[in-house]
Amino acid sequence: MTQTSRKILVTSALPYANGSIHLGHLVEYIQTDIWVRFQKSRGHHCTYVCADDAHGTPIMLRAQREGIAPEELVARIKTEHEADFAAFNIGFDNFHTTHSDENRELASLIYGRLKEGGHIATRVIKQAFDPEKEMFLPDRFIKGTCPNCGAEDQYGDNCEVCGATYSPTDLKNPVSALSGATPIEKESEHYFFQLGDFEAMLKEWIHQGHGTSATIQAAIASKLGEWFESGLQDWDISRDAPYFGFEIPGADNKYFYVWLDAPIGYMASFKNLCDKTDGLDFDEYWSADSEAEVYHFIGKDIAYFHTLFWPAMLHGAGFRKPTAVFCHGFLTVNGAKMSKSRGTFVNARAYLDQLNPEYLRYYFAAKLGDGIDDLDLNLEDFSARVNSDLVGKVVNIASRCAGFIKKRFDGKLSPSCSEPSLYEEFVHAGTAIADHFERREYSRAIREIMALADKANVYIDEKQPWVIAKEEGRDQELQDICSTGLNLFRVLMTYLAPVLPDMADKVEEFLNIESLGWHDCAEPLTDHAVNKFKPLMTRVEKEKIDAMLEASKEELTGMTEENKPTEGPLADNPIAETITIDDFAKIDLRIAKIVKADHVEGADKLLQLTLDIGGETRNVFAGIKSAYKPEELEGKLTVMVANLAPRKMKFGLSEGMVLAAGPGGKDLYILNPDDGAKPGMRVK
Ligand code: MSP
Ligand code: ZN
Repeated sequence: MTQTSRKILVTSALPYANGSIHLGHLVEYIQTDIWVRFQKSRGHHCTYVCADDAHGTPIMLRAQREGIAPEELVARIKTEHEADFAAFNIGFDNFHTTHSDENRELASLIYGRLKEGGHIATRVIKQAFDPEKEMFLPDRFIKGTCPNCGAEDQYGDNCEVCGATYSPTDLKNPVSALSGATPIEKESEHYFFQLGDFEAMLKEWIHQGHGTSATIQAAIASKLGEWFESGLQDWDISRDAPYFGFEIPGADNKYFYVWLDAPIGYMASFKNLCDKTDGLDFDEYWSADSEAEVYHFIGKDIAYFHTLFWPAMLHGAGFRKPTAVFCHGFLTVNGAKMSKSRGTFVNARAYLDQLNPEYLRYYFAAKLGDGIDDLDLNLEDFSARVNSDLVGKVVNIASRCAGFIKKRFDGKLSPSCSEPSLYEEFVHAGTAIADHFERREYSRAIREIMALADKANVYIDEKQPWVIAKEEGRDQELQDICSTGLNLFRVLMTYLAPVLPDMADKVEEFLNIESLGWHDCAEPLTDHAVNKFKPLMTRVEKEKIDAMLEASKEELTGMTEENKPTEGPLADNPIAETITIDDFAKIDLRIAKIVKADHVEGADKLLQLTLDIGGETRNVFAGIKSAYKPEELEGKLTVMVANLAPRKMKFGLSEGMVLAAGPGGKDLYILNPDDGAKPGMRVK
C-alpha cells in the first residue's frame, strides 16, 4: 500500500502442549498481536505464526498418565489453545504444531547441515537412570535430601528450603519421582552442538540492529556479556528413548531434545502457511540473503535459546538470522507471583468465563514498555483503568454525540469539518503514537491517546451540545459539534484498533466505514451517514473479578498450594493415574475424630487438625479452611489415610491425610458423628 511496504515475519514463543494458556502467557501473545495488527494497519505485509511446542518428557509422561498416545494429547491441547487464543483475538496467520512433517523435515535438514559443517560432536556421558521405568531421568524428576541443609524431598537441581543449587548426583538418598526407585548411573552417547564455533558471529550479530530496533535489548545484551565471559558450552541436543520427539537421522534410537526442534517450529509453521498461500515464499523470508524482517517475541526466561543457540543454528545451516529478538518480563498479579491458592493463577478460560478479553488487552497495553521488567496485573487498578479510560473517556465521546446525529440529522454528519485544526492536531499526533507502537512502547502510545481523548471530551464539554440542542435555530452548530466529536472518536479508534480489535469492528459498523487503517483517517468524514450507535463496551464489574478468582482457586485435592509441587511430574496433573486393586489395598483408611482444629499462620487454605484414630493421635494439615471454621470441626468424624508417609511441610509434620468430598470452596463435606462410626474403625 504505502511505498515503503515492509515484509515482516513475527512469532510468539510456542506454548508447551501440556498445559493451559494462562494470563502470564497472554502478556506475550497480546504484546505480539498488538504489534502485528499495528504493522498491518500501517499497510505492511506482516505475517504472524506460532505453533504448539509438542515434544519432550513432560508431555510424554502426561500422555502415559492419561493412558493415551502423545499425539492424541497434543491434538486435544492444540484445539484448546486455539480456542483460547481466538477468544483473546490473537490473530495468528497460522498456528501449527512442532509435531509436524514440515518440522521433521526442517529439523533434519538443519541438523544435517550443522553436522556437515563439523558443528556436531558426540561424547559418552553419565546420567541418572530409573531402573524401574527404564529411562534416563531429567534433573527435576529426581528427588532426595538436600546435601546442603538436609531438607527432605527436594528436586534434583535445587533446594526450595535453603536455595542451594547442585547436581542430582549430590543429593542424599535420591529417588526417582516417577517410580520411587533409587536411580543408578548409566552411560550413554550424546550429541552436542558446538556453540563456541559461533562466538564471533554472535558477537557481531547482536550489534547489527535494524531500523528502530536493536537486535537485542540492552538488558539482554548485558546478560549475554556474562554468558560470553563464562564461555559458550557445547549444547546437548540428544535424548535417549523413550522420548516423544523426532528421531535423530543416522543415530541409533536417539531423539532431538525438544529445544532443538522447538524454534525450528517457527519456520515449520511458516512453511506450512506458504504451502497454502499464493505468493508467500519461504525462501524470500529465510534464505541467508533475505531482505524480509524476522522478529521473535519471547519471555526473558528463554532468551538463552533465542539469542545464542537459535541464531547459531540458523547461521550454521545457511539460513538468515532473526532481525531482532524482543523479550518481555513476567506477569505478577496483585504484586505477587501468580498463586493457585489465592486464585491468581488464572487460566485464559477462567478469565473468559467472566470478563471481556479487550479489558485485558487494553490493560496490558497501558502497562507494557520495551523492556524486560515484570508487569503487574493489579486487579483494582485494572477495573479503575479500563472503566475510566475506555468507558469513561473513549466510548463516552461517541455516546455523547451519536444520539443527536441519529435523531436530529438522520445519521448524517456535517458537509464540512467545523474544526479543521483540532482534527489536524489529532491526525498529526499519529506520527508520535505510531513511533511508540513501533518501538513497543505501548504504554506511551496509550498515554498520548488518552490525552487526546481528554481533549475531545473537553471540546464537547465546552460546546455543550445538550444545551444547544434545546435552542432554536442552532441546528447546524449542533450537527457540527457532534460530527467533530465523532470524527475525533474515529481517529482515536484508529490508534486503538491494534489493541481493541473487537471494539474496532463494532466502530467500523457504527461509523459505516470499511476499515480503521492507520492512514484512512487523514481526512474527516463529511456528509456521511453513520449507523445506529450500540453500546461498545460495558464497565468492569467487581463481582466478575471475584468470581474469576474464586473459580481459579485450586480445587481441593488434598494437594493445596502449600504442599503442591510447582514443577515436575506431579505438578499440573488433574487426571489421576489408574491404580490396581492391589494398589488400593495398600491404603489404610480409618475413621478419625477431630479432637482439635486450629488456624495455621500464613496458610490460606490449611487447618491444623489433631485426629484421634482410636488411641493414637495424629497431626494433619488439611486444606479445608474454605469450608469449615476450626470450632465447627471439633468433635466431628472424618476418614483419613492413616498410612500416608509423614510429610514435612512448611508449617510442620503432616502425619496423614483427611478425605472430604464436594465441589470445593464452601461445599466440602466430612462425616457426621452418628451412624455408630468409631475412631480407629477401618473403612471398607
Ligand atoms: N515451549 C517453550 C517456548 C519454545 S519457543 C521456540 C516455552 N513455553 S511456555 O509455554 O512455557 O511459555 C511460552 C511463552 O510464555 C514464553 O515466552 C514464556 O516466557 C511466556 N510466559 C510464560 N509464563 C509467563 C508469565 N507468567 N509472564 C509472562 N510471560 C510468561 O517456554
Ligand atoms: Zn537445602
